[in-house]
Amino acid sequence: MPDRRTVESAVALSSRAPSLHNSQPWRWILGADALTLYTDNDRILPATDPSGRQMVLSCGAALDHVQRALATERWCAVIERIPHSPDQQCLAALHFRRVDEVSDVDVRLAAAIPGRRTERLPMDSPPQWQQTVGFLQELVEEADVHLDEISEHERPALAGMSRQLSGERRSDPAYQSELRWWTGHAAYPDGLPAEALPDPRWTVATEREFPAGRAASDTVGIEEDRAAILLLSTTTDSRLDWLRCGEALSAVLLACTYCGLATCPVTHLTESAATRTSLASLAGGDGVPQVLIRVGMRTPTRSGPTTPRRPLSEVLFRERPGDARS
Ligand SMILES: Cc1cc2nc3c(=O)[nH]c(=O)nc-3n(C[C@H](O)[C@H](O)[C@H](O)COP(=O)(O)O)c2cc1C
Repeated sequence: MPDRRTVESAVALSSRAPSLHNSQPWRWILGADALTLYTDNDRILPATDPSGRQMVLSCGAALDHVQRALATERWCAVIERIPHSPDQQCLAALHFRRVDEVSDVDVRLAAAIPGRRTERLPMDSPPQWQQTVGFLQELVEEADVHLDEISEHERPALAGMSRQLSGERRSDPAYQSELRWWTGHAAYPDGLPAEALPDPRWTVATEREFPAGRAASDTVGIEEDRAAILLLSTTTDSRLDWLRCGEALSAVLLACTYCGLATCPVTHLTESAATRTSLASLAGGDGVPQVLIRVGMRTPTRSGPTTPRRPLSEVLFRERPGDARS
């Protein structure tokens, strides 16, 4: 096993993973021979994510982050995903072995963790995109996830679906009160501060509708969003698929960050059965849509601090004698 300090710094870094509304729904338990990942079900968003699909996706992103962080310390994680356990919240048990070399991909993706953040303002189109997409496709295949690009001519249809869903949800009190609970508060180490949400003049048509925030561009340069839009899909829709897709999401976001690109996961269109079906046919694939990702060149911003995270003491625990994992 890696020593305690190594695990603590890897888990601290993994807490920078993206999560739905920055809910950070993960819990790690360090035992004598394994590090185990659980969902923190107190952090599920029942109106937005009743099945807990996005909670597991978020934990999958943290799982990929922790693997990359430990790989740079020459620890390779052997992962049992969705292990047999009496605890339904158990998602993955990580055992470790020492390795002599660190792959370039792990070094680069781990290096990108501190600088990655979600960009919700309009973006310019990403340069040398076809080359990057090829690399991203290879990355997600490892997790058995499909990556498709929404073509330019499908974009108005996507924006139309987004507007219609946002309109319907304005009269959904449970969804709205949950959104307001998680957004716009500066005082907590979770949720979305107003600095991370766009000023209404800078909203993007394909994005989730958030309460008005304070993020604004420094320039009048990019008014129309020209980001590429990717869709991650899975073959089936099991808990394992969600976890693997979260890992793939993390890999894509970190790889783009490493390449100097801005990213934004977008999931409101996968939250309703109707828009999820339309999204699948729009992408032309036969997979199950899980998450859209906007990728582009960042608008120069008056950028605020990074979105906060919970302290390590709230997410990493020692296994107590007598605790049974399986
Ligand atoms: C499963 C999942 C769903 C998300 N959905 C959205 C979304 O619909 N719109 C959005 O702007 N950001 C979305 N995000 C990004 C989170 O809001 C973001 O990761 C979180 O607030 C932490 O901020 P950071 O990514 O800047 O560190 C999502 C992230 C995940 C993992």
